[in-house]
Amino acid sequence: MAEEPPELFGPGFTADPYPAYAWLRRNEPVRWTVLPSGVPAWLVTRYADARRALADPRLSKDPQRHRAAEHASGRVGIPGERRANVTPHLLNIDPPDHTRLRRLVSQAFTPRRVAAFEPRVRELADRLVDGFAARGSADLIDEFAFPLPIYAICDMLGVPAEDQEDFRHWAGMMLHTSGRRGGVARAVKHMRAYLGELIHRKRDALGDDLISGLIRASDHGEHLSEEEAAAMAFILLFAGFETTVNLIGNGMLSLLRDPGQLARLRAAVAAGDEEFVALAAEELLRFDGPVELATWRFATEPLTLGGRRVAAGDPVLVVLAAAGRDPERFAAPDALDLGRTDNQHLGYGHGIHYCLGAPLARLEARTALRTLLVRLPDLRLAGDESQLRWRGGLIMRGLRALPVEFSPE
Ligand code: HEM
Repeated sequence: MAEEPPELFGPGFTADPYPAYAWLRRNEPVRWTVLPSGVPAWLVTRYADARRALADPRLSKDPQRHRAAEHASGRVGIPGERRANVTPHLLNIDPPDHTRLRRLVSQAFTPRRVAAFEPRVRELADRLVDGFAARGSADLIDEFAFPLPIYAICDMLGVPAEDQEDFRHWAGMMLHTSGRRGGVARAVKHMRAYLGELIHRKRDALGDDLISGLIRASDHGEHLSEEEAAAMAFILLFAGFETTVNLIGNGMLSLLRDPGQLARLRAAVAAGDEEFVALAAEELLRFDGPVELATWRFATEPLTLGGRRVAAGDPVLVVLAAAGRDPERFAAPDALDLGRTDNQHLGYGHGIHYCLGAPLARLEARTALRTLLVRLPDLRLAGDESQLRWRGGLIMRGLRALPVEFSPE
């Protein structure tokens, strides 16, 4: 392995960051790095350090703890967002506020609600495949992975069907302009305004949907304010959208590149082996997950991480994708093994900020895999793999398009 530090965040890095992560894990597992935005942060790449950091109460989620809060960048989830007037939500607050909000939202967003939603997600996935099955080719991102989570979360929240196209449009603005602030900010503004109004309307006519559940939720007689409920609905959309698009996109690419594993999964799907499909969805997340880095954390006091001194106010970024390939934790970490059972990856985070939407993400991933493999039995990549283009944000990593071919239905 080269002794030179690898190039981080360049175009080659986005297409395949894993060699650079291997170098970091081996040579500088906790490294002070200047990010493309110019903000320096500690990058944590080993599994054991990553897991510890994610659950360390001395690492705050509150951007005000950043010692250089003036590095405002205006994007949601990174330092300075409070200055951009963003309402507190689960990913930018600490206990006890976090504990209260998470308890309230957990009453509404329950695993039971998600499980009951399974037939609807299957129906959505089938409807999307209906849209292109007769054609013999498709872009799996634009026509499947992108709309599935948007429609799913809109349905679950209780956004009326006639308004869901607006969400598809705004979500598209977020995805296609990511990295450019104006488009994302405009899309965020539209979504938040719409959700605020929907919550206001629903207050008088509560139903079975998730927004009604958020309005109903109470803790010791305390309810979410309308503004808090709107912020919560928004964070569910925001946290659950691009992540799921990229899990399906990256996951399908990994499978289509590996005929042996693809055949294994096909056989499991044909045999109705749901346990194997669930294992496969976890392994695809470990192997090439959508969330490159966990969201920002800031040291509230001086501490030692992987032998390095972290000063109070320093930002810390846990590289989930690097932790998932750590040979100290996973056997043959660079091999895709869909049947892997010892697979405690950190793809959904760890500790009090563990992904609230994991049951929904898992349901969508399993349904997507099953539907695509059943409906399109000879699915394969179309065109030249070297032409694949990646959308590399700092936190998220996914394909711009995934062209595929198959025998028309
Ligand atoms: C938190 C991953 C889908 C809602 C997180 C975190 C990760 C993550 C790594 C922790 C971030 C941190 O500690 O900095 C993923 C992945 C997904 C996914 C890989 C899909 C493949 C979803 C979905 C929803 C959702 C579908 C909701 C509909 C949330 C929320 C949090 C969160 C609300 C914040 C929880 C808290 O701070 O208490 N997710 N997520 N996620 N996720 Fe997900």
